Amino acid sequence: MKTLQLTKNGSPQEAFQLKELPNPEPEAGELLIRTECFGLNYADVMARNGLYNDAPPLPCTLGYEVVGEVEKTGKGVTQFAEGDRVLAFTRFGGYAEKSIADERTVVKLPPQIPSDKAAALATQYCTAYYAAIRMANIQKNERVLIHACAGGVGLALLDLAQYIGCETIGTAGSASKLEFISLRGVNHAVNYREKDFASEIRKITGEQKPVDAAFDAVGGKTYVQTKKLMNYGGRHVLFGVASRKTKGPKLLNTLKLAWSFGLSHPLEFLLGSRGVIGLNMLRIAEEKPAVLGEVMENLIDLYQNGHLNPHVYKSYRFNELSAAHEALENRKTIGKLVVFW
Ligand SMILES: NC(=O)c1ccc[n+]([C@@H]2O[C@H](COP(=O)([O-])OP(=O)(O)OC[C@H]3O[C@@H](n4cnc5c(N)ncnc54)[C@H](OP(=O)(O)O)[C@@H]3O)[C@@H](O)[C@H]2O)c1
Repeated sequence: MKTLQLTKNGSPQEAFQLKELPNPEPEAGELLIRTECFGLNYADVMARNGLYNDAPPLPCTLGYEVVGEVEKTGKGVTQFAEGDRVLAFTRFGGYAEKSIADERTVVKLPPQIPSDKAAALATQYCTAYYAAIRMANIQKNERVLIHACAGGVGLALLDLAQYIGCETIGTAGSASKLEFISLRGVNHAVNYREKDFASEIRKITGEQKPVDAAFDAVGGKTYVQTKKLMNYGGRHVLFGVASRKTKGPKLLNTLKLAWSFGLSHPLEFLLGSRGVIGLNMLRIAEEKPAVLGEVMENLIDLYQNGHLNPHVYKSYRFNELSAAHEALENRKTIGKLVVFW
């Protein structure tokens, strides 16, 4: 089978190689899936740059999710049969013509869900769902702040916050992204690269602590400013550090990143009656696969009922992987990037 292997860290042009590898064999409880397309996630960019601790050692195959057909089932698999069209959370190994998934993190795809949109429902919508519905437990009429709102997870959070009936504030880094999230119905769109987003949000709302739930995968200075906006009872979900520099000395960048979060003490959260919640979906997938499967099923239902509309920035061919990585790294993209074999 063809595999787009990550053979070294660096630019997308030099990091990936197309290789012919033997088909993997599904073990008990696993499925072998013939991939039609796989999705890209920002963590892939971090992994390519050698900044993602959870990635397997090189050479390795990245890729959290695939859409395809079940080719073979491992022992004990009861819920799937050969030929089923599925969406699978693969953990790693998705950038290949065939990949393996634990059957508990796979869902059957109704024919009316297009493959490219379906790919968005795995990592990005699952992260958004877990963060917003399970962890922050967002409520109708609450005010929700979504950073990098035009990204894959950002747009998923916007869909879910609108479904629940929240007032939404979205930040993004360019005029075209702000225009896009406005068209998607965000209540307030703020350019956090051009303006001090915290004072802008205070101006818009007329409140000093206007945010009930915040979703932050940028981190660093953005985290510190967001923390100060949190209302009593507020939930601030931290799920990424996109602000981490990808170029330059690794140790120095790590120290700078750690420092940029500032210092805090638990009493600050007790006295302020608010919390910071960390989320790593990979840990949830590994330790609670059945919960991830349940989240995927819920998302399929919400999609079928017209509540979700994943936006696909572009579908690429497998020989355009480096262009897709470059666009994602350079903050050019809105929504999901998908690669077809
Ligand atoms: N913890 C988890 O389990 C989990 C799961 C999925 C994703 N994530 C995290 O969630 C974030 C979004 O993931 P995604 O796959 O949906 O990607 P994405 O949001 O589509 O793309 C990343 C976006 O981050 C923003 N950004 C802010 N500062 C940046 C910087 N210094 N360099 C590059 N981009 C920067 C950019 O939007 P603007 O131009 O608008 O700033 C960029 O478009 C990522 O940080 C990712 O690591 C975490």
